[in-house]
Amino acid sequence: DARQGILPQTRRHSMIASLLGIRHIVLAVNKIDLVEFDRAVFEQIAGEYRAFARELGFETIQPIPLSARYGDNVIARSQRMGWYRGPALLEHLETVETEADTAGRPFRFPVQYVSRPDLDFRGFAGTVAAGRIGVGDPVTVAKSGKQSRVKRIVTQGGDLAEAVAGQAVTLVLDDEVEVSRGNMLVVPEARPHVADQFAATLVWFDEKPLLPGRSYILRTETDEVSATVSHLKYRRNINNFSEEAAKALEMNEVGVCNFALQAPIAFDTFAENRVTGAFILIDRLTNATVGAGMIQHPLRRAANIHWQALDVTRDARAQMKHQKPAVLWFTGLSGSGKSTVANLLEKKLHAAGRHTYILDGDNVRHGLNRDLGFTDADRVENIRRVAETAKLMADAGLIVLVSFISPFRAERRMARELMREGEFVEIFIDTPFEECARRDPKGLYAKVLKGEIKNFTGVDSPYETPNKADIHLPTAGHAPEELAEEIEAWLGERGYC
Ligand code: ADX
Repeated sequence: DARQGILPQTRRHSMIASLLGIRHIVLAVNKIDLVEFDRAVFEQIAGEYRAFARELGFETIQPIPLSARYGDNVIARSQRMGWYRGPALLEHLETVETEADTAGRPFRFPVQYVSRPDLDFRGFAGTVAAGRIGVGDPVTVAKSGKQSRVKRIVTQGGDLAEAVAGQAVTLVLDDEVEVSRGNMLVVPEARPHVADQFAATLVWFDEKPLLPGRSYILRTETDEVSATVSHLKYRRNINNFSEEAAKALEMNEVGVCNFALQAPIAFDTFAENRVTGAFILIDRLTNATVGAGMIQHPLRRAANIHWQALDVTRDARAQMKHQKPAVLWFTGLSGSGKSTVANLLEKKLHAAGRHTYILDGDNVRHGLNRDLGFTDADRVENIRRVAETAKLMADAGLIVLVSFISPFRAERRMARELMREGEFVEIFIDTPFEECARRDPKGLYAKVLKGEIKNFTGVDSPYETPNKADIHLPTAGHAPEELAEEIEAWLGERGYC
């Protein structure tokens, strides 16, 4: 808008365009009629934009003064701006060179699905993301490194001798190599990266901020895997591109993060390939797309740390204790009675000869998690560490009682998924906020009323009620002893102890 000039949104979109690899920019200065077709206004804006965009690596910037309302410089050059010698918008769009040479790059074929109409035919369907492939050419399966050759290139309109970037085809190979959806067929001499950690630039779209440690679904062209941001390295300032320290990414912010995936994926860097180097992040609970990423480089440490197989197994450790390991996960508001009930339950289990341990929020926050406060980001990390610790303890054969507010569904679900099937028992200690405030065992609610505590659960920090806890215990009218007995009975009936 000629009247407003360069706005924050102009800068933000320019930065995102640059990250996406866009190299040619049209600076369409609209509503030029509202500033009397003034050359000075136009040149001021164009100059300011060029100065701003210097670091963004665009190859060309074409400023065009136009009036969308009256059609000046939209399709044809305007008669009302004799001072402007450049092209009209459409003229420019029709002539600017935009195609990058994807056909000249190393062959990449992300497998969309395996086509098996009958026993005699097995083909891999997808779109050639880069390069070209011909019948008889060697190919490698990215994740396994297995080799084969292309026997046929099948399309609706008949077989082809060759396919290039952009074409959708089904490839039939010489051998019965294993290739599933999410894998990639590639040229043997230029293979993509296969790793479960990488660094990437991330653009965040969601109203809820990105929180490191929270588990999201990462989807590439064909693959899908659970992923967390293991480290938010910095946020990029949209005005001067400087790197700023950040604990979370808010909506529309751009940052650089390290990702840790649950399983390795095959990928290129975004600079090498815009299809195989890009991904989106999906919220596990809402299924909404919350971010888009461009991979910078794999993190090598992923390749050099392998899970060490040990001879004394988890089953052996549990057997020696004559028990089935379990994680009894208590959730509920501060002062709801989690610790009291967990403590009583542990006494009962202990008396029955069980090997147990309690992880309690207030205690763990004195040691392992003493660097964490009560922001959303810190609570996510708090629960992530505790879930990992509980997993190790279950691995050691213990029955672990975990007593944290654990206010977010996403992290409780993450904890459940971390444990073995059936090992995780979610216990909702359901005491209404008013009742917790009335009991106020630690005097915290009184302080909250005086405004002395910020981010307090149930006040200015949310508690997401469990939808389907394994054990739901409304506490009103029940003594803690009764509640502990109820849990003990539940566990007994289901063979936990
Ligand atoms: S969680 O939300 O990250 O799971 P956690 O269970 O570790 O919380 O710690 C909660 C305990 O910290 C509460 O029982 C209370 O004693 C104390 N606490 C101090 N400040 C707060 C706060 N702002 N919100 C909730 N609990 C707080």
